[in-house]
Amino acid sequence: MEAFRDLPFSREEKLKILDVGCGLGFISCVCAEFYPKAIVTAIDTFKHASLKGSSLEKARNNAKILGFSDRINFEQRDIFDSDYGKGNFELFVSNLVFHNFGKQRFDAYGRLAQWAAPKSYVILGDLFFDYKSDLRWLSVHFANVKERPTSTINWQYKMLVMSERKKT
Ligand SMILES: C[S@@+](CC[C@H](N)C(=O)[O-])C[C@H]1O[C@@H](n2cnc3c(N)ncnc32)[C@H](O)[C@@H]1O
Repeated sequence: MEAFRDLPFSREEKLKILDVGCGLGFISCVCAEFYPKAIVTAIDTFKHASLKGSSLEKARNNAKILGFSDRINFEQRDIFDSDYGKGNFELFVSNLVFHNFGKQRFDAYGRLAQWAAPKSYVILGDLFFDYKSDLRWLSVHFANVKERPTSTINWQYKMLVMSERKKT
């Protein structure tokens, strides 16, 4: 939530947000809480071993308990089989997802960049096992790539904030 305070959006904006690999919907709910008028699309395969026991129903139920059902749309989707077109989201968030993809994460970064508008922001929290390569790759797509300090839960956990998508 701290990272949202750095962004140029007002909390009252009707942002459209995409949460990639939402799992049980924790980050989606944080987005909905911080931006009370935002609409969140939350996607996950709900099949990956990295989060055992998760399901679309559980994620929806969590959002319901917290009162966000009307603003979080959960979809069972694989990022690699999805196409959200260009410029449909002002903000992309993803936590602890991309490292699961191995080298395919570079393709996934490219997808986010394709879907982003020049003024969109992307916040990625992840274990960057090969940080320099990830930074290099993300810098191919975004003119602005910044690491944001976090209260570290793991020395490899970092939060990157990207903006100014390049025309590639
Ligand atoms: C460690 S969990 C993180 C969940 C959530 N972001 C959080 O912070 O609580 C990683 C999530 O990525 C999802 N995932 C893995 N591969 C995916 C893919 N190809 N497309 C969409 N989601 C995927 C998994 O199903 C899992 O829920």
